[in-house]
Amino acid sequence: MKTPRQLLDGFTARFGTAAKIYRAPGRVNLIGEHTDYNDGFVLPAAIEFYCWAVAAPRNDRKLVIHSENFHQTIETTLDSLTPLGRGHWANYPLGVAWALERTEIRLKGANIYIAGEIPLGAGLSSSAAIEVAVAFALLRESGHELGLAELAQLCQRAENEFVGARVGIMDQFVSCHGRASCALLLDCRSLEHRLVKLPDDIQLVICNTMVKHELASSEYNLRRAECEEGVRKLRTVFPEIRALRDVNLRQLEAQRRILAPKVFFTENERVKRAVAAFDAADLQALGPLMQDSHRSLRDDYDVSCDELDLITEIAVAQPGVIGARMTGGGFGGCTINLVESAAVNDFKRNVAAEYFSRTNRNPEIYVSSASEGVQQIDITQNPPAE
Ligand code: GLA
Repeated sequence: MKTPRQLLDGFTARFGTAAKIYRAPGRVNLIGEHTDYNDGFVLPAAIEFYCWAVAAPRNDRKLVIHSENFHQTIETTLDSLTPLGRGHWANYPLGVAWALERTEIRLKGANIYIAGEIPLGAGLSSSAAIEVAVAFALLRESGHELGLAELAQLCQRAENEFVGARVGIMDQFVSCHGRASCALLLDCRSLEHRLVKLPDDIQLVICNTMVKHELASSEYNLRRAECEEGVRKLRTVFPEIRALRDVNLRQLEAQRRILAPKVFFTENERVKRAVAAFDAADLQALGPLMQDSHRSLRDDYDVSCDELDLITEIAVAQPGVIGARMTGGGFGGCTINLVESAAVNDFKRNVAAEYFSRTNRNPEIYVSSASEGVQQIDITQNPPAE
């Protein structure tokens, strides 16, 4: 990955002016999967993998956006923002411009140079990171400020309505609000949130199965529709409920026969117990919670895959592992492993070797601390480590 200075030079070589540098992180979710769009609780952490947006304002209403990853430049105007083809990378930056323009805010045109270091399609929220980085850059370059919660909601709206993925609020929210050394407990109904300090001597170790599931976004939208259908059915018995969040396990068990098994929903409770475990520094309690979470996503919710199951099984057998589970939307992608710092090197070596011997795939394994949310990077005053 290039340094911020090199990215800035890349911008200047292409657009011929000075610019500012912004970045927004990807995320892992420690627990609370597929709960955000059910109005539940999540516990993600921002990671030290970013989408960078180098930007300068223009005097007209044009947007000229270059993607370093896709070696492509697109040009359009803020007055005619429409999605490009399905799955086009530019739909994310264009989508946030579209969502911002639908508020009171009047944007300036901009030249933007985007470079992402978050693996694409790996369940680490490269989409939210590009949305948040570009939206933040567009706002700043137009001389506007917006609260971070509102920024996250606008980015979610871009993804829901412009890109066409019916994602919840988790990824955008933590890409805005992440803090170093902390996970973020978020109530996805009220958007109340608080930081949960992570122990100093553990690392977030992310195992990429290298499986990209072609059906991920259609299956995701289907799960969400099934949950909404479940709520409609449950409301015939419990008219006061608004989302699966409002149903307790006893009510759910009693009505199991009217629900598709996939909407059987137990994850919310585990988030609260995991937060209590972090608060009490009771790390032993986390392993079983993470394992139950994985099992439930595999068996009840059907969003795992063989490779995620296998790499989790290999991981939990390693010394120094506090807990392991799939993270993100599923159907491929990554697992999150909480690993004692001293055990990380052996963990990486052993997991990679065993996974390769059983699948013939070489996993990528990334180690990260919990990181800061979106920010502007000033390389003259505070040079980041290069
Ligand atoms: C994706 C979505 C999130 C969330 C997770 C599953 O990452 O973007 O909103 O639903 O899947 O927890």
